[in-house]
Amino acid sequence: MFLTKQEEKILDGELGPIKAKAMRILATLGDIFDADKLIPIDSVQVSGVSYKTIGDAGLSFLEDWSHAKVVVETRMNPAGMDLINWKEMGISEDFANKQLRIIDALTSMGIQKSCTCTPYHAGLIPAKGSHIAWSESSAVVFANSILGAMTNREGGPSALSAALIGKTPNYGMHLERNRVGEILFEVDFDLTDFDFSLLGYYIGKYAQNKIPIISGIKKANQIQLKSLGAGAAASGGIPLFMIKNITPEFRIIEKPERIHVDHEELISIQEDLTNCDRPNIISFGCPHCSLEEIEEIIQKNKTNKEIWICTTKQAKEKIKAVPSNIKIFSDTCMVVAPVEKLGIECLATDSTKSAHYSQTLSQIKTILKPREELLNDIKG
Ligand code: F3S
Repeated sequence: MFLTKQEEKILDGELGPIKAKAMRILATLGDIFDADKLIPIDSVQVSGVSYKTIGDAGLSFLEDWSHAKVVVETRMNPAGMDLINWKEMGISEDFANKQLRIIDALTSMGIQKSCTCTPYHAGLIPAKGSHIAWSESSAVVFANSILGAMTNREGGPSALSAALIGKTPNYGMHLERNRVGEILFEVDFDLTDFDFSLLGYYIGKYAQNKIPIISGIKKANQIQLKSLGAGAAASGGIPLFMIKNITPEFRIIEKPERIHVDHEELISIQEDLTNCDRPNIISFGCPHCSLEEIEEIIQKNKTNKEIWICTTKQAKEKIKAVPSNIKIFSDTCMVVAPVEKLGIECLATDSTKSAHYSQTLSQIKTILKPREELLNDIKG
C-alpha cells in the first residue's frame, strides 16, 4: 500500500512509538487486503472494551498505548458492566477494578466513554458517503445500510490504530464497487418487529459472504432495521444489506441468485435459539434500546419477572420512573458482561444476536421470544 511521506515518517517513529505501531498495523492490513492507500475517516467506534472479552492481555496492551492520543471523534463499544451501577449487576470488585482500568486507559487516549453499540442513538450520526472505522458488528451494518456511511468491520486494534492516525486502509466497504447486492432474499409476508431479528439471522446464515438484497419490505422503522442488521451480523458477519428505498445507495448485480424466505424457517430459528423455559431474567437491549423503546417496554410491562434493559447513558438519564421489576443499565450488555458469573442460567431475550452469543460466548441457555410475549406471559 502506498504511504505518503508524512505517513512514512509516522511509521518511522516521528510521532512516537505507539503511533508508529498503529501505522504499522494499518499498513499491514492495507497490504493484506490490497488497499491502494490510507483514507481519512470522520469517526471511530472502538470494540474490545469489556474486560470479559479482552482479559489481562488486552488490559495491559491498552495501558501500554494509553499515552497516545486519538485524532478523530472516537467512541467506545459497551464495557463489561454499568460503569456506575455495577454493584447492582452483581459484578465482582476484581472485575470492576480491571474494567475501570480499561476505561481509564481508553479515556486518557481521548476516547469518549459512551460505551454503546448504537452511537447513532447517542448523537454520532455519520454523514452519507463519509468514511468511518467502526467495529461493533451491528453498528457497522447499520452505518453502511441505513446511514449510507462506509466502514469495514474493524477489529479492536485496527479501530484503535485508525483513531490514532485518523485514517484507515482503502479496501472492502470503502470502495463503491464492493457495495453491491449479490444475493436476493424474497420475503412475501408481513414482518412483525420480532421477525426482523429472525430474518436478519436467517440472511446472515445463508448469504455466504455475499451482500444480501431483501425484497418485499416496503416500510421499516430504524428499530426494526437495527434488529435485522444485528441478527445478520451475528450469524454471518454481514457488513451491508440492500433494501430498495431504505438503503441510501441501493445497487445490485444484474441477475442475483434468489432465495425465497419461508416464515416457517424463521420460526425454526426461534426454536433453535431456545433451549430453556424458566428464565432467571428477561433482557432487552441487543442492540442497545433507544429511549422510545424503553418507554414502550415500561408501558407494556405486565410481568413481574426481573427485566434488565441495556441502553445508552443518554437514554438512561432521561428515564425517571421505572417499575420495580425493571433495571436499566448503561455502558454494557448481556453479551459482554460476565453474565455467566452472575447466577444467570436461563436468559429470555427478543434478540437473535443476544441469544446466539449468550449460548456460544457465555455458555448460558436462552429463550428467544417476541418482546410483547416476554412482557406479557412469561412462565415464572
Ligand atoms: Fe450491542 Fe452487545 Fe448486542 S454490543 S449488539 S448489545 S451483543
